[in-house]
Amino acid sequence: MEDNIRILLTEEEVDQRIRELGEQISEDYAGESVHLICVLKGGVFFMCELAKRITVPVSMDFLSVSSYGNGTSSSGAVKIIKDLDEPLEDKNVLIVEDIIDSGNTLHYLVEILYKRQPKSIRICTLLDKPDRRVADVKVDYTGFEIPDEFVVGYGLDYAQKYRNLPFVGAVVFE
Ligand code: IMP
Ligand code: MG
Repeated sequence: MEDNIRILLTEEEVDQRIRELGEQISEDYAGESVHLICVLKGGVFFMCELAKRITVPVSMDFLSVSSYGNGTSSSGAVKIIKDLDEPLEDKNVLIVEDIIDSGNTLHYLVEILYKRQPKSIRICTLLDKPDRRVADVKVDYTGFEIPDEFVVGYGLDYAQKYRNLPFVGAVVFE
């Protein structure tokens, strides 16, 4: 590896936690179905693993957003650059994200998706950095709360690299 990466959550820890989240979600949506929405690209690995652990009927769709901000931290509003294929009307939408940092992305995304009249919207994130929150977001399912470090793996990238690492690691900046 070109960068120095320290393991924060092992593959086993992540897999175990995803199983627990899947069980919890299956209980909460008992008798209903759930429409998973993956925020590309980071949410892909998490959503695939999570979907396999959910026992109620699941459908899936994908979208991609870009922040109107610049650099490494999103400054505010987001815009959808690849939209969903399916309408959301009357669906139990569960947004699946890799990580919540400032909260800006999800804050605006929920606002946009609510207008499409889903039956419900909830948020599931693999990782949360609560110390960094600036926007108000209600997170329903969290895999792990982590300290304010830049992390990669399990879908998360650093300059588009390391998404495929099977664990979550912190980049050690020298
Ligand atoms: P937010 O809008 O500030 O909550 O930013 C969320 C997005 O920023 C995430 O979906 C990630 O794409 C990216 N991001 C935030 N923190 C990290 C990190 O530690 N590693 C990789 N990407 C991150
Ligand atoms: Mg993301």
